[in-house]
Amino acid sequence: MRRIFSGIQPSGELHIGNYLGAVQNWVRLQTEYDSLFCVVDLHAITQDYDPKSLSSLTLDMAVSLYAAGLDPDKCIVFVQSHVAEHTELNWLLTSVTPLGELERQTQFKDKAQRQESILAGLLAYPVLQAADVLLYKASLVPVGEDQVQHLELMREIARRWNARYGEAYFPEPQPLLTRTKRVLGLDGKAKMSKSLGNTIGLFESPEAIWEKLRPAATDPARVTRKDPGTPEICNLYTLHQGFSPPATVEEVADKCRTAGWGCLDCKRKLADHMIATLAPMRERAAALKRDPAGVMARLRAGADKARNLARRTIADVRDRMGFLKAGED
Ligand code: TRP
Repeated sequence: MRRIFSGIQPSGELHIGNYLGAVQNWVRLQTEYDSLFCVVDLHAITQDYDPKSLSSLTLDMAVSLYAAGLDPDKCIVFVQSHVAEHTELNWLLTSVTPLGELERQTQFKDKAQRQESILAGLLAYPVLQAADVLLYKASLVPVGEDQVQHLELMREIARRWNARYGEAYFPEPQPLLTRTKRVLGLDGKAKMSKSLGNTIGLFESPEAIWEKLRPAATDPARVTRKDPGTPEICNLYTLHQGFSPPATVEEVADKCRTAGWGCLDCKRKLADHMIATLAPMRERAAALKRDPAGVMARLRAGADKARNLARRTIADVRDRMGFLKAGED
């Protein structure tokens, strides 16, 4: 079975944007591939962060992943910093990473622009990401469009390492692009993101979901109830595609184009399907939160499995790079 690896930043509980953009896909993939999913806390320290909240944000993300449907019997879920081999391979890979390529990364340039002082870790971010994937010799990486450039650099790093230290040791990982369109926030303007406060959390109550959906932005050209709309430019239609069954999605598109329904009718339908989809996740999350020791035990088991795989790669890599063995006593 082919192996996949993906990572998500420890941003606390999932919202429907993360879910539709990534995690919904992972839940499907876990049965089709040998899969590892990682909460990338080491990546989180490359930008300003609060050490007091890192551990709870990491734990909340892990709970979210399990509640959303990642099953520890089907895939490996773990926290990046629990497997020290990630940092080791990261360093070893810097020996084949061209500085110019790091400086060219659009994500680095974007983030650096918004910062007063730019950290070396921000520049080296894609090297750590390469280490994440190569450590497990994964061949596919489920990600969104925004990570394609990082994946190109990852392949470049794999190629250069292979050329210098061991022909064809690392596979060249390919992106497995997520089908979902980018989910905008409820304001219909910016990307859905917790810091902008335009999200719906995965475990919000039915009442809270409706309260947020009711005033959400729709097709801006639809001013009155009688104006026909264009589903393709309506963010709520994207959400329908994520949460409603295909027949409803078709009906919604039709009723929007013909002004058969007003936006509120459409939102009510969406709320029903969203609430129904999220209800079991909300229940699972509540059960997991009542049992933090159980969550920790799952994470520990996940890290143990990941470490077992990682150690073999590190032993090979050390050997091929020519380090003196520490020896055994
Ligand atoms: N950079 C990715 C993101 O921001 C997160 C990530 C870290 C990742 N390591 C990874 C994704 C390895 C895929 C594979 O979304």
